[in-house]
Amino acid sequence: MSTYTLHKYDSSPSLYLHIPFCRSKCPYCDFYSQVADQAQLDDYVDLLLRHLTWLSDNQVFSAPLGTVFFGGGTPSLLAPDQVASILQQLQRSVGLTGAVEISLETNPGTIGLACLQGFRQAGVNRLSFGVQSLHDDALQLLGRGHSAKEAVQAVSWARQAGFENVGCDLMFGLPGQSREDLLQDLSALLQLQPDHLSCYGLTVEAGTPFEQLALRGAMELPDEDEFPELYLTVHEQLSAAGFEHYEISNYARPGHHCRHNLAYWRRQTCFAVGAGAHSFIASDYGTRRAVPADLERYRRSLELGRDPAEILETFDRQGAMAETLYLGLRCSEGVSDADFRRWFGSGVAEAFPDAVRRCGKRLVLARGRWRFDQQGWLLFDHFISFFL
Ligand SMILES: C[S@@+](CC[C@H](N)C(=O)[O-])C[C@H]1O[C@@H](n2cnc3c(N)ncnc32)[C@H](O)[C@@H]1O
Ligand code: SF4
Repeated sequence: MSTYTLHKYDSSPSLYLHIPFCRSKCPYCDFYSQVADQAQLDDYVDLLLRHLTWLSDNQVFSAPLGTVFFGGGTPSLLAPDQVASILQQLQRSVGLTGAVEISLETNPGTIGLACLQGFRQAGVNRLSFGVQSLHDDALQLLGRGHSAKEAVQAVSWARQAGFENVGCDLMFGLPGQSREDLLQDLSALLQLQPDHLSCYGLTVEAGTPFEQLALRGAMELPDEDEFPELYLTVHEQLSAAGFEHYEISNYARPGHHCRHNLAYWRRQTCFAVGAGAHSFIASDYGTRRAVPADLERYRRSLELGRDPAEILETFDRQGAMAETLYLGLRCSEGVSDADFRRWFGSGVAEAFPDAVRRCGKRLVLARGRWRFDQQGWLLFDHFISFFL
């Protein structure tokens, strides 16, 4: 009997596949990835296929998948036939729903038209490009291996290859970036007519070269007054262009929300494959597992026929309530008070009276759903800490 029991209401689970390789390491990034050659990549795809076999042999998979997400690292380093073999194995072992969303994160510097056509043919139907900026000096500072022109070219090839769902990542609050620079980035990005935009304020992550620069005082970052201005600039410009600001950092044209990420924020079941990948099984109050971010351990577990994932957290009622709010209040849809009561036996205000009071006007119950306003999102870490 598998240790993964699915929640009876979970009809279309998701799957995340982690590809922990990049062509070079960007100095701001602390995602689990390393520079690798083709042989290592090929070898890793064999491990992924083995992992998928383990999951189906152990009856972990339950129902056809509603979303599949190739994340990284840089999944666009995979060859189209490797993506195809993974998707074919999934089709055979668990099945994919008719409307499955299959996303692949793409570094614009790693891709050509033929490869994009190959991904589309393999079944990928959503691309997310790491554009980051359309200023060459900023791209250089970020250590990206591509120019603005190459990013523009890659997005246009994606359309040519038949992709109807194309997203771009933008980073803002970059060293020395003015509001005018950001406005230019936004305007140039909008000209690419993306369906989805993820806009991240630069975070200086521990252990990265950017942290060293920041500690030495060699990097001029936005201060406490400038950051909100940049964040609100993104919100205003993209809202005016017809995008829905549906999560703190995410914007979509109607009908182009990332369904995979929505499933995560809604605490729906997501299986995970690959070193460094995290899963969530929505049975009882929920269980999170992680495959250790260690390629050799990953290989050993699979060779021994063991589950490479380890339990990170088995939630109790209190933990599940807090996480439901932590994830749900990031989204514009917020959290339904009736659902919360159905899941946990009390409404949000009864479960967290002090936290709700301390959030004041920033957290509102309207038409049965709890939501933060823009100011609440801007200071999300501060307000949400009252619930944790
Ligand atoms: C896995 S990467 C996307 C795909 C591919 N690896 C690439 O960079 O083109 C995910 C995204 O996270 C964002 N990101 C990574 N590190 C960040 C940081 N320190 N601060 C803000 N955003 C960051 C970038 O926008 C990046 O595109
Ligand atoms: S930002 Fe993307 S390409 Fe750069 S190191 Fe991180 S995962 Fe790799």
